[in-house]
Amino acid sequence: MRIQIVPTATHCKSVDFKNKTVVIIDVLRASSVMTTALFNGAKAILAISSPELALAAFNNYNTGEALLCGERNAIRIEGFDLGNSPREFTRQRIQDKVIILTTSNGTVAINQAMEAKELFVASFLNISSIANHLTHKTKELVILCSGTNGDFSMDDGLCAGMLISLLSQTNKIETDDSGIILKAFYEANESDIYAGLSNCRHLNYLIDNGFEKDVLFCLRVDVYNVVPRLSGKLIVAS
Ligand code: MLT
Repeated sequence: MRIQIVPTATHCKSVDFKNKTVVIIDVLRASSVMTTALFNGAKAILAISSPELALAAFNNYNTGEALLCGERNAIRIEGFDLGNSPREFTRQRIQDKVIILTTSNGTVAINQAMEAKELFVASFLNISSIANHLTHKTKELVILCSGTNGDFSMDDGLCAGMLISLLSQTNKIETDDSGIILKAFYEANESDIYAGLSNCRHLNYLIDNGFEKDVLFCLRVDVYNVVPRLSGKLIVAS
């Protein structure tokens, strides 16, 4: 299996996603939100790059069918039903709903990679399910780390490293220099992911803005056995 790392959603212009399997990671917090929402029974997720387009998409649904969700600067967008905290996406709140989601980086990353042969969404919460799904049958994998506003983000990198490490247990892996570094970064921190990310800028931004519980929620490993995948324009559980 060949694995290419794309470090942020803004590094996609020169990447050829066609004929590739793509895994999108935005641990804090968009990919953790999508994983949680699908595990808790959301019908599907529509990942939208801007609040304006999200509102337009929402207006195409009948009343009660969809929820309008998302953040800017980590805070729920005014007038939206939910923000981007995975703890808001409870079964009671979201079961059978289409989640229209717009976030600063994660949903932007998904829209950059729509032409992929297949696209999955990974987080620590479902990382082994993703690895098991890809193992043996994937030849060309691109791991797209969403990053934060154009900067590489350690949380995504550590999760990408974990995915490479898991895949290496069952596949012969060829990866680029970033992939080698991220695998080593994960393996040096696997016993304490939280400590490994103590200097992560976005993690500390979330803590400083009152979202520490979200950080702890998102750094749990293998809690949900769900593989979010793109089907047409919607992300669904498989
Ligand atoms: C994003 O998509 O950039 C993030 O999920 C931001 C956040 O933590 O809300």
